[in-house]
Amino acid sequence: MAQWKAILLFGLVLSAACLRPAAAEEAEDADDEDYAEAERAHLIVRKWFKEERAVQGRNLTVHLELYNAGSTTANSVELVDADIPEGFELVEGSGRASFAKVAVGSSAAHSYVVKVAAAEGFATFEPAKVTYKADADGEEQTTVSTPAYVEAITAVQELQHYALIGGKYASLGMMRTSRDWFTAFAVLAVLGAALGGNSAYKGVSTARTNQRRKKALAELEKDA
Ligand SMILES: *[C@@H]1O[C@H](CO)[C@@H](O)[C@H](O)[C@H]1NC(C)=O
Repeated sequence: MAQWKAILLFGLVLSAACLRPAAAEEAEDADDEDYAEAERAHLIVRKWFKEERAVQGRNLTVHLELYNAGSTTANSVELVDADIPEGFELVEGSGRASFAKVAVGSSAAHSYVVKVAAAEGFATFEPAKVTYKADADGEEQTTVSTPAYVEAITAVQELQHYALIGGKYASLGMMRTSRDWFTAFAVLAVLGAALGGNSAYKGVSTARTNQRRKKALAELEKDA
């Protein structure tokens, strides 16, 4: 009979455990409903670059898009972008913009152009700040955009990139004649010499160092 009691107790504990989260969920649902009932604008701001790559000496277009995912129009929208990182220079437009309104389900966009000057390697364009009136009371709301990341490369690195893509197509059988192959190899060899010219030298000096090591080892072994 003790067994039955244990099972009964177990059942009670189990149902209590099941009821508790259900009650909590109900409370959460109520909160969600309250929130959904309040008509407000909700801007989602994304920041990215129009160009695929940032090449030194060329332009890079910073693009910002403000999408209203809320349930009412966003009014008096002010966009202020963060300072551009070191190594980039502003050449056209600015990081500031205003929009009288952004309707529900639509977006506003702003872009400006910077030049990739002395930038090298990875750079972060910090998030832009956006303020707007989110509801009928004119309550001000502030949000930030996503940051945008870019890798600044040199024109030579860009050439190398295309050379590598070329190599990929070559291996896919795009090179039909031996002349095509010869041309491709000649181009890659010239690029290789320009880009990795000292790797051959490094190879030679490594070999020399290895020989010196071997000699030194041999000497040691003699002494031992
Ligand atoms: C970069 O943008 C500026 C301003 O729009 C333009 O005058 C210049 O020609 C552009 N430079 C290049 C390399 O596209």
